[in-house]
Amino acid sequence: MVKPFIIGTHNAGPFLYAGVDALKAGGSALDAVEAATRLVESNPDDSSVGLGGIPNILGVQEMDASLMCGRTLRTGAVGALKGFIHPISVARKVLEEAPHVMLVGAGAEHFARVMGCEEGSLETESSRKVYRAFVEDTFEHGGIDQSQEWVVTYARSQNLRQWYERLADKHHGTVNIQAMDENGDMASAVSTSGTALKFPGRLGDSPVIGAGNYCDNRFGAAACTGRGELAIRNSTARTIIHYMEDGLSIKEACFRAMKDIHALKSFGGMNCLALDVKGGTMSASTREDRESTYWYMDVGMRAPETRKGINVKQ
Ligand code: GLY
Repeated sequence: MVKPFIIGTHNAGPFLYAGVDALKAGGSALDAVEAATRLVESNPDDSSVGLGGIPNILGVQEMDASLMCGRTLRTGAVGALKGFIHPISVARKVLEEAPHVMLVGAGAEHFARVMGCEEGSLETESSRKVYRAFVEDTFEHGGIDQSQEWVVTYARSQNLRQWYERLADKHHGTVNIQAMDENGDMASAVSTSGTALKFPGRLGDSPVIGAGNYCDNRFGAAACTGRGELAIRNSTARTIIHYMEDGLSIKEACFRAMKDIHALKSFGGMNCLALDVKGGTMSASTREDRESTYWYMDVGMRAPETRKGINVKQ
């Protein structure tokens, strides 16, 4: 029998203890991933998740998050959510209370309000500074009117692909957290503010079940960070599970999914984090310029340990 455990991407390490505390208290894998993700969302120094997330091109923070339960295959996802402190908990409410699996924008905010989710600003001095610098850099004389119209004007004046290519390289980040509880149930959580300075309404892979997140007790869990458009095009998270279902090991499944990303021959990188039914864990990255590592902590440990993933060459 595998000891209950939790894993997370590089930015989740200091917060995994909250998930372990939940598991030790008899909480479910869902409880564990939500508890740890909430702490990452509250970390003002993480500019890609929750508080302090870099805003979109209009200076508005729009959050994406999703949760999936491996026992029931129930999911909850929110996209382009504004003004709620814990997008992951709104996603949990969708999973538990909504007749739907994904809510976005004003509808998601209305739902969150009805559910009594905590409202508030996610801006920090640092996130405001990044946006101000972008505006000053882009418009020498400043003075933009925060309307949708200038985005269109801006878009027309740019080679959009080159613009996004520059962003995609520098401004990605997301948290993936997965757990297995004492019943062998698995859960997977993803939360992000998405690509910095993205177009309003842009959804990445994080709220798209099958693309940025998937979890099925029979085979395993997988989630992604990186340029979400790539994971959406390949249904990367579900594909990793499919590869394991077909008999590949967790390492082979992650390797092959990253090869599939390379095969798109597009810009931007992709990373995945996964676990399997035996408690095996793995991460993989299409990037060759930095080590692929993730964090692991089980209920018998006092502190998390880092584990090495694989870097998958073109
Ligand atoms: N992977 C997060 C995003 O593209 O928004």
